[in-house]
Amino acid sequence: MLRRAMQWLFDMTLGRAIDGRVRRQRLYEAVVFGPPPRLVVAPTAVVNNALFNTVSGRIVVEDHAFFGHNVCILTGTHDVAVLGPGRQHAIPSGGRDIVIKTGVWVASNATVLGPCVIGEHAVVAAGSVVVGDVAPFTIVGGVPARSIGQVSHGERGDTAAA
Ligand SMILES: CC(C)(COP(=O)(O)OP(=O)(O)OC[C@H]1O[C@@H](n2cnc3c(N)ncnc32)[C@H](O)[C@@H]1OP(=O)(O)O)[C@@H](O)C(=O)NCCC(=O)NCCS
Repeated sequence: MLRRAMQWLFDMTLGRAIDGRVRRQRLYEAVVFGPPPRLVVAPTAVVNNALFNTVSGRIVVEDHAFFGHNVCILTGTHDVAVLGPGRQHAIPSGGRDIVIKTGVWVASNATVLGPCVIGEHAVVAAGSVVVGDVAPFTIVGGVPARSIGQVSHGERGDTAAA
């Protein structure tokens, strides 16, 4: 009886507080900074709480691609040659598109800078910063991201395995 009462007290107080704090993290809500029509995410892709910056280009995420948490996909940039208050506004309006091809895994806390294409079934390791194209079936990691491996794949694309 006492045990049940204590459990109830925990659920109503600390348990609820923890639960609320976790839910407030919004781990499944992606956000778009820039024009939303520039972002196309395939219905079978999973992007969790990604930040998509479409200020300087289009972003396409193809079928069965999936992200870990806190992934940033950034087309926007600022002209570093501009000094003073002008730098805040020295932003290209296009030309920095990002395409994340089918089956790509972008692991947690990775950042992808445009322009680039991440090829089919490639893997971007956790915490990496991608600064250029990634070849299909390639595993990249680090800052800047470099090849750290290959995804072995047979004739059947749907059975590709690391
Ligand atoms: C990419 C990943 C899957 C590779 O795993 P793996 O095949 O077991 O690779 P290994 O641990 O054998 O590491 C292979 C090499 O890559 C390097 N490496 C691994 N992860 C790395 C990373 N995140 N950044 C930079 N280098 C990395 C290792 O140091 C190792 O280098 P070495 O050969 O010079 O020693 C894994 O490292 C990773 O990033 N997982 C993501 C986890 C995650 O985000 N989970 C959330 C769910 S989406």
